[in-house]
Amino acid sequence: MTGLFPGFPVQRLRRLRENPVLREMVREHHLRPEDLIYPLFVVSGRGVKNPVKAMPGVNQLSVDLLVKEAGEAVRAGIRAIEVFGVPLKKDELASGAYDPDGIVQQAVRAVKDAYPDLLVVTDICLCQYTSHGHCGVVKAGRILNDPTLEYLARTAVSHAAAGADLVAPSDMMDGRVGAIRQALDQAGFEHVPVMAYSAKYASGFYGPFREAAASAPQWGDRRSYQMDPANDREALRETALDIREGADIVMVKPGLAYLDVVRRVKDAFGLPVAVYNVSGEYSMVKAAAANGWIDEQRVVLEILLSCKRAGADLILTYHAKDAAGWLAG
Ligand code: PBG
Repeated sequence: MTGLFPGFPVQRLRRLRENPVLREMVREHHLRPEDLIYPLFVVSGRGVKNPVKAMPGVNQLSVDLLVKEAGEAVRAGIRAIEVFGVPLKKDELASGAYDPDGIVQQAVRAVKDAYPDLLVVTDICLCQYTSHGHCGVVKAGRILNDPTLEYLARTAVSHAAAGADLVAPSDMMDGRVGAIRQALDQAGFEHVPVMAYSAKYASGFYGPFREAAASAPQWGDRRSYQMDPANDREALRETALDIREGADIVMVKPGLAYLDVVRRVKDAFGLPVAVYNVSGEYSMVKAAAANGWIDEQRVVLEILLSCKRAGADLILTYHAKDAAGWLAG
C-alpha cells in the first residue's frame, strides 16, 4: 500500500468528512426500515398488556393488542414482525406449540387478516410450551434430538397453515431444518421459506427473554444443544448443514458479541444472513439510557448499523419500531 499511495500530506481522509452531503455520498453502509424484524410476545386473553420488567417498553400482548401494536409498527415503517407465543398451559410434549388453535396460530391469523402485507415470521421452538422449559423432548434428564423433530415440523406446518409467511426454528436440534422443510413441502407449503437460527449460542444475553416468554429451563441449561460461545469454526459447520437441509436465510444469535461470526458466515455463504440483537443487548441499552448515561437513539442506530457493517442483511431487534420511526424522521 505504502508503495502505491504517497500518504500524508497528499492523502488527507478528512477531506471527505468536511461536507455533510459528501459524507452521505461516500457512506458505505445503510440502515433501512426493511432491514428490521420486530419481535412480539403474544398471550391469551383480551386487552392484556403485561410489561416485561427486564425489558422496558416490551409487553406481553393479547391478540387484540398485538394486532394494534403491529399496526403501529406498520405505520412506523416496519415490514416484518416475529411472533413468540406464551401459552396458558405447558406439558411434557409441548402440545400448545402445534395446536391449530394455539396462541401463535391465533395471532398469525389475526395479524394477517388486519395487515395482509406485513410479513409475519414465527419462532419454531418448544421451550415456551414444555413443562420443563427445554427446547426438545426430555427423557431421563436428556434432551432427545430425533423425537423432537416431529414436533418442530408439526409446529411449522401449523404456523404455515395459519398464514405465517416465514418460519424460524430456534431450537438447535440437529436435522430440524430438513425435517421442517420436508413437512412443509408435504403439506403444500413449499413456498414458505425457512430462516434458521443456525449459529445460536448458549448465551447469558437471553436472560430478559426468558421472563418475556416464560421459557427458562426448570433444570439444567441449554449447553447440550446451543453452541459454545468459544467456537466460531463450528458456526460455519452449523450453517453449512442448515443450508444443505434447505435453509433460505441463516441467522447468528446473539448479535453484538458475535459480529465476527456474522462476518464469517456472510463471507462463507451466498445467502441472506440475519442477526438477532437479543433481549440482554436491548435491556443494557435501555438501562443505560434510563440513567442518562447514553443517548438511546444514537446508540441504537449505531448498534444496528454495526450489524449491517458486519454483513447482516436482516436484524431482529426489540428496538425495531423506534428505530424505524427515527429513520423516517
Ligand atoms: C427460544 C428462544 C430464545 C430466544 C429466542 N428464541 C431463548 C433461549 O434460547 O433461551 C432469545 C431471544 C432473546 O433473548 O431476545 N429457543
